[in-house]
Amino acid sequence: MSRDPDGVGGISDPDMSESESSTTASRRSFLKEGAACVVGACCVGVPAVAGLVAWLDPLSQDGSSGDVATRVATLNALPADGTPQRVTVVRGRSDAWTRDGAVPVGAIYLRKTGERAVQALHSMCPHAGCFVDYQAARGVFFCPCHDSTFAVDGSINDPHSPSPRGLDALEVELKGDEVWVRFRNYRTGIQQKVPVS
Ligand code: FES
Repeated sequence: MSRDPDGVGGISDPDMSESESSTTASRRSFLKEGAACVVGACCVGVPAVAGLVAWLDPLSQDGSSGDVATRVATLNALPADGTPQRVTVVRGRSDAWTRDGAVPVGAIYLRKTGERAVQALHSMCPHAGCFVDYQAARGVFFCPCHDSTFAVDGSINDPHSPSPRGLDALEVELKGDEVWVRFRNYRTGIQQKVPVS
């Protein structure tokens, strides 16, 4: 009996036949290649996973709970022609006792208004809180609850709209290629834009 010369591990048997020895060697070779593949896959997979986690992690936010900036998109992800893009705002929620991970807290529309300029509009109708849809064919936001419409910049364009104000604009900040938005809800049914605390 002698030490394994290839360093894979285990002990070799001098009485082993040539075919057994060859089978064992190829098995070892397979194991080595398999291990190399696993290590390689991990090396390639980690950056992709890290990117996804970074997107969903609470680190994609700054500020305190009432006034939080959240990373919501990249400039490249928004249509260059200014067509509004619906985006779900996801935040990590945690306090002294719980850490919920990423949870959706609302939805917004992002619209490029220039090379490096973005407008963010809350997707909730200020009349009674229904969600508006962007209708590309008509170029308007449509509220299904009372059949009213808003212009692409969020202003009221329906003279009979029961909404007391246009869609609520949200503060946008660009950090390099990233679009950050201070998402919050506003009271419905009143003319003034009053944050819900
Ligand atoms: S809820 Fe949108 S117009 Fe009434």
